[in-house]
Amino acid sequence: MNDQTTFRALVVREQDGSFQRAVEERRLTDLPPGEVLIRVHFSSLNYKDALSASGNRGVTRKYPHTPGIDAAGVVAVSSVPQFVEGDEVICMGRDLGMNTPGGFGEYIRVPAAWVLAKPEPLSLYETMQIGTAGFTAAQCVDKLLANGLQPEQGPVLVTGATGGVGSLACALLAKLGFAVTAVTGKESAHDFLRQLGCTAVLNRQQAIGRVGAALLRERWAGVVDTVGGEILVGAIKATCRHGIVTCCGNAASGDLSLTVYPFILRGVSLVGIDSAECPLARRKAIWEQLAGPWHSALQEVLNSLSSCISLEQISHTVDAMLAGQTRGRIVVALGEQS
Ligand SMILES: NC(=O)c1ccc[n+]([C@@H]2O[C@H](COP(=O)([O-])OP(=O)(O)OC[C@H]3O[C@@H](n4cnc5c(N)ncnc54)[C@H](OP(=O)(O)O)[C@@H]3O)[C@@H](O)[C@H]2O)c1
Repeated sequence: MNDQTTFRALVVREQDGSFQRAVEERRLTDLPPGEVLIRVHFSSLNYKDALSASGNRGVTRKYPHTPGIDAAGVVAVSSVPQFVEGDEVICMGRDLGMNTPGGFGEYIRVPAAWVLAKPEPLSLYETMQIGTAGFTAAQCVDKLLANGLQPEQGPVLVTGATGGVGSLACALLAKLGFAVTAVTGKESAHDFLRQLGCTAVLNRQQAIGRVGAALLRERWAGVVDTVGGEILVGAIKATCRHGIVTCCGNAASGDLSLTVYPFILRGVSLVGIDSAECPLARRKAIWEQLAGPWHSALQEVLNSLSSCISLEQISHTVDAMLAGQTRGRIVVALGEQS
């Protein structure tokens, strides 16, 4: 391998104000400097990738660009002692795929601080079935549990339930013994959600509830919200006394319009979740949970909630994701795996 070594990557280019995506040949010299060069075997498609792949400047400032906030692969070159050639590693979040060429290319070059040894006993493929979305779901569940939430306290609401974060959160909570109520906009996905272990399914309007009321009937002991906006507002208003609501996404809206009453009259907690800049110690602790106590529970469902696509299939899958038409987790296989 030398600097002229070529590899394939999805490249998003801006042309006359619109954004075009194509699989192109790149050279290692196209990658930024960094301590670890990784041959990417698998990536995964997250909502943030769909935004980056469609010209969202809040995610990616400059084009041409290769998205992909997740990567799992093998170290090809390392200039630091903690990683050596052949190590199986994962790299997720930080700036990967935002303004640093990401996992939708067969190679990435990144700072060593962004790289984690592959959590055993997970395979590279399994780490990407989980990916940032699954890691985020795990962070949400961890916060609910840290707040003392127990299954006997009542149902947990999961919004955007067929999405990457939502489906993993439903499956994990159900396996941990919680009664899970899923919110979905997909009429056709009720069976899928029940197979993940959800005990009830609501449509989006049912989840929003009565607009204008400061509080709604107490229903949810906890909430995992991935969509924001009116659905999150409805969820907070219907959260039980001292319940906890985790907020990680804005698939519906970034707005949050409500009064302080759920917080000051019911002691509801609203907890924000950030995976991109999650501190290393917490990142490791969450992966230890995913690869340890939660592994067997998740292993049973990961295949049923994930699919695998090639680099060439990313572009139309991005459009489907932005239209809210995808479900579960989407792994991207690169190179020899595809
Ligand atoms: N904070 C963090 O660190 C972090 C990390 C990962 C993801 N996120 C965010 O979490 C959200 C979900 O990510 P993801 O990867 O799971 O995306 P995803 O797979 O596209 O799932 C999003 C789901 O939200 C629902 N949805 C889409 N449009 C909606 C709308 N207009 N109104 C209501 N519901 C809608 C859909 O589920 P149904 O059809 O079932 O309703 C969709 O499947 C995104 O906003 C993403 O940016 C944040």
